[in-house]
Amino acid sequence: MKIETSLPLMEDILLAWRDRIGVDYDGYRGHVYRMFNFCLALRECSEEEKKKIAIAACFHDIGLWSDHTVDYIPPSIAQVKKYLSQEGLESWSEEVGLMVEMHHKVRPYRDERYPLVEVFRKGDLVDFSLGFFKCGLPGSYVKNIKETIPNAGFHKFLIKGAKDWFSRHPLSPPPFMKW
Ligand SMILES: [Fe+2]
Repeated sequence: MKIETSLPLMEDILLAWRDRIGVDYDGYRGHVYRMFNFCLALRECSEEEKKKIAIAACFHDIGLWSDHTVDYIPPSIAQVKKYLSQEGLESWSEEVGLMVEMHHKVRPYRDERYPLVEVFRKGDLVDFSLGFFKCGLPGSYVKNIKETIPNAGFHKFLIKGAKDWFSRHPLSPPPFMKW
């Protein structure tokens, strides 16, 4: 299976955010491409589905930098919906919005209308967990993606965020986790 490392649509979206993402840019970009590839490996996607996943992937954590908050899912949804309406793709808003909203859901998401929501949740989990959860993907494939698209400090950045949160709220899970 071909590994996607640079797609015009994703580059256009991400580059518009480059200055705001700043030093974390390479790390976030890598995470976006790894989770995008994991999603494509989890499901045989149509071109339209690929485009939805590409857009959701670029925006799914963007609230970390648009609003500088740990509670970054609501602003990420707002940004992806804004983008979709600018592009005349409002009809995708509900589905792509759910992909972003549910991506840190701990339990599976079940809605037969929108299978991509669960694909996206799994794709993020494979990368977020550094491949500890593979969601049925072969270990060799996960390893290959991790080697092809370097981490570039993304998990260091996540761990720092988690440490900051738990030092202030030792008993409560971060707001982006959803049961
Ligand atoms: Fe993510």
